[in-house]
Amino acid sequence: MNNLISLQKKNRAWAERVTAEDPDFFNRLTTRQAPEYLWIGCSDSRVPANQVVDLLPGEMFVHRNVANMVIHTDLNCLTVVQYAVEVLKVKHIIVCGHYGCGGISAALQNQNRQGLIDNWLCHIKDVYWKHEGLFTDITDEKKKSNLLCELNVVEQTANICRTTVLGDAWDRGQKVCVHGWIYDIIDGLICDLNINVDAPGNFQEIYQQALISLKK
Ligand code: CO
Repeated sequence: MNNLISLQKKNRAWAERVTAEDPDFFNRLTTRQAPEYLWIGCSDSRVPANQVVDLLPGEMFVHRNVANMVIHTDLNCLTVVQYAVEVLKVKHIIVCGHYGCGGISAALQNQNRQGLIDNWLCHIKDVYWKHEGLFTDITDEKKKSNLLCELNVVEQTANICRTTVLGDAWDRGQKVCVHGWIYDIIDGLICDLNINVDAPGNFQEIYQQALISLKK
């Protein structure tokens, strides 16, 4: 209980600090939100979305789940994507994975019987099986994990591009670009995986190029 009281104290101190620096800050946010970015990231506490790109409240719409997955039957994720694209009209969707992801490691270790999460991890295992050939010469477990973290970002970015929401938006001529990034917990830096898709026509080529650059 003491821990929660300390959180509430921190909250009050934060709100006072923000107001002191910008007296109109909260008042502005009450009228509307107009973020330019949708962030799809991992739930991992070490990768707090706004903080790692130094954005304020109101500047980024966020969806997080275990291992930053975009699953075509996940109504939670799809609802966020639809609202972000059709109502907020975000200009950029960023799928950001991270090295050292526990979800990726669990999928690699192939340890079943952890309960409900096994079904979620199956989607990551699908990514592994799809690209199994890339892993044959890698014996180092950390390198395997890093590669699967990167491949997972590529595949989840591809999944976003294949949603009806993005297809419809691009058909309407709406400007929205999908990006794939990976964050390194060791130094706090983001690496761009060179996936930047702003139209369905160039998707396949960008996807193939991204895979080739991962092989190096
Ligand atoms: Co993670």
